[in-house]
Amino acid sequence: MKAKRIRIAAMLAASALILHACGGGANEGASAGPPGAESQAPGAESQDESKPAGMITAADLSLGDIDPAMAEKGKTTYDVKCQACHSMGENRVVGPGWKGITTRREPAWIMNMILNIDMMLAEDEEAQKLLEQCLVRMPNQNLSKEEARDVLEFMRTL
Ligand code: HEC
Repeated sequence: MKAKRIRIAAMLAASALILHACGGGANEGASAGPPGAESQAPGAESQDESKPAGMITAADLSLGDIDPAMAEKGKTTYDVKCQACHSMGENRVVGPGWKGITTRREPAWIMNMILNIDMMLAEDEEAQKLLEQCLVRMPNQNLSKEEARDVLEFMRTL
């Protein structure tokens, strides 16, 4: 942990000049699966032995045609809880802009960034790269799975 802090501090200094790079560019490495972890909140419904409790996998999601009602609800959540740090365009505010995010990232990865940010920052390389670029840890916004899914639907419209 401490070593990581120091490493991040070093990155902080090193990346001061390339701040604008945050979230930009294509991402070949969007991870499909969740990172492993043993200790997660117990009691999450539908315990699946093959994945850490609470982490979303591709099998948990079904994406069909964009559902306008869900996207609308997602937009409302965005306005209240995400807009301060994320634009709907390509520009970074505090975190990366969301334009085209669903073409850069796997849906399950996005869901885990929303619902399990702490685990993602601890275990997922792509999430860690973003932190190194953005220099701010995304706070957990305490969305329900359903709210997160609505936000994902909204993202698909961007
Ligand atoms: C206080 C600022 C802040 C708020 C509020 C915030 N985020 Fe973030 N978000 C970040 C930062 C910073 C990152 C980059 C990862 C990191 O540094 O932790 C990020 C990364 C992300 C990513 C990955 C982006 C990419 O390009 O891969 C997603 C998805 C995301 N946030 C979703 C959300 C959602 C959904 C909400 C609202 C419910 C939200 N964020 C609210 C700061 C914020």
